[in-house]
Amino acid sequence: MPQSPHGPLRSFGRLKSRPVKPRQAALMETLLPQISVPEGPVAITGETWLEIGFGGGEHLAAQAARAPNVALIGAEPFVNGVASAVRHVEEQALTNVRIHHGDARDLIANIPDVSIARVFILFPDPWPKARHHKRRLIQPELIEDLARILKPGGRLRFASDWANYVDWTLERFEASPKFNWLADRADDWRIPPADHITTRYEEKRLGDCAPVFLDFERP
Ligand SMILES: C[S@@+](CC[C@H](N)C(=O)[O-])C[C@H]1O[C@@H](n2cnc3c(N)ncnc32)[C@H](O)[C@@H]1O
Repeated sequence: MPQSPHGPLRSFGRLKSRPVKPRQAALMETLLPQISVPEGPVAITGETWLEIGFGGGEHLAAQAARAPNVALIGAEPFVNGVASAVRHVEEQALTNVRIHHGDARDLIANIPDVSIARVFILFPDPWPKARHHKRRLIQPELIEDLARILKPGGRLRFASDWANYVDWTLERFEASPKFNWLADRADDWRIPPADHITTRYEEKRLGDCAPVFLDFERP
């Protein structure tokens, strides 16, 4: 994984990675180089969606399987997550997944303006303690960058089961004139959207509230 100008990422919830299983380790050597996003400016052709912090890659792979004509780019620094994602890509013979093994913010810096149709940020590390809020992924700088890469009419989905992180995110997106929140009624954030794919992580319900889904549009 290349050095990030953002510095090493703080790990939330796990201090040490587990040993990568032999089959996944082999795929890290063979398949990952073939589907890795090359360093430098990212070439985007056709409809492209981005998932930030894909964890084990279940959602990334399932969305890619459902939408074979869409290119899915996923970013994840956690080695076990990347190892699990490459296994999903291989098992489902997906040809439309690209992986950035590293900090999503470094990838985004290399993505051209107005090129991405959808962004997913699902159950990001909550960092619930006030003194750790600065480690949260959702920050005004990231919101600016996401506004830059999204196409007009592009969508961004955020989900969390930590009430304070939901409020935090809503406040910051509502403060940006570059995004509109698409909810009309409570069910729009309380009920998982029809195209959502639940991951094992989400099922653990580690937060302090029921999952909330915020869908924003780039006007
Ligand atoms: C709590 S997990 C959720 C995983 C997955 N989205 C899910 O719902 O199953 C959050 C993930 O975000 C990743 N993450 C944290 N900071 C990140 C960053 N700057 N760029 C990309 N991924 C990041 C973590 O490594 C972790 O795998």
